[in-house]
Amino acid sequence: MQMEKNAVQAYWNKRPCGFAEVESDAGPETGFARHARLRYAREPEILEFARFERWRDCRVLEIGVGIGADYTRFLRAGARATGVDLSSQSIRLAFQNALAQGLAPQLSNADAESLPFAEAGFDLVYSWGVLHHSPDLQRTIREVHRVLKPGAECRIMLYNRRSLLALQCYLRYGLGRLHPFAPLSRLISDHIESPGTQALTKKEVHALFRMFSSVQVHSVPTVYDLRLGRRRFAPHALLRFVPRSLGWFLLIRAVK
Ligand SMILES: C[S@@+](CC[C@H](N)C(=O)[O-])C[C@H]1O[C@@H](n2cnc3c(N)ncnc32)[C@H](O)[C@@H]1O
Repeated sequence: MQMEKNAVQAYWNKRPCGFAEVESDAGPETGFARHARLRYAREPEILEFARFERWRDCRVLEIGVGIGADYTRFLRAGARATGVDLSSQSIRLAFQNALAQGLAPQLSNADAESLPFAEAGFDLVYSWGVLHHSPDLQRTIREVHRVLKPGAECRIMLYNRRSLLALQCYLRYGLGRLHPFAPLSRLISDHIESPGTQALTKKEVHALFRMFSSVQVHSVPTVYDLRLGRRRFAPHALLRFVPRSLGWFLLIRAVK
């Protein structure tokens, strides 16, 4: 497990999520502002799901802050937000991002599988596209449950194995490379983001979150389901023709 974790950490230290957009051509806006603008245009579902403005004065934990786009939104909305990430490079950039916006971040380098927080301390645990990178995903969900106050909720995005993006992965790396019988979960683990990435069915999500008192899971079609190339996507308007059940993002809300 530790070797797998080290590989995940090394991957995200080398390629902090979204950093290519921070670095790309300078324009009138800062790199972090450009990244945030592109991010919410590409993934507008984040705004609806996180509802940043709702968490004013609440204790929020974000797991896997990346370079801090969502984390700084929580701070700007007045949440008492703490953030962690396995990648020290990401934490360094998230720190810079927050300071550049005049915010006072509370960020640390930590692992979702053993969170450095006492139990029952948070009103919200939020995590966008992170926990499926952990070798022991069930352990991360137990940790989320442990640090939430009774009656508090988590909002977590995980990847959907029954999605168009997963199908593209099969066509390209399974059929396309003459491995038609390769298990989809292995193709995703080998080819999507850091080594060992997992994508789940809704049934598996319900099993993972069984210790919560209520769980809602919705899938959402994303631009990644209609990818045309490495950095090219079909227009957002076309997403309305994709059945919701085949979307790459599983949006999970669970109450302790
Ligand atoms: C796809 S990026 C998402 C980052 C950010 N949430 C976003 O949407 O831009 C995945 C992030 O998860 C972090 N991560 C992976 N495994 C983790 C773990 N076990 N504990 C904490 N963070 C982890 C990585 O370092 C990386 O920053």
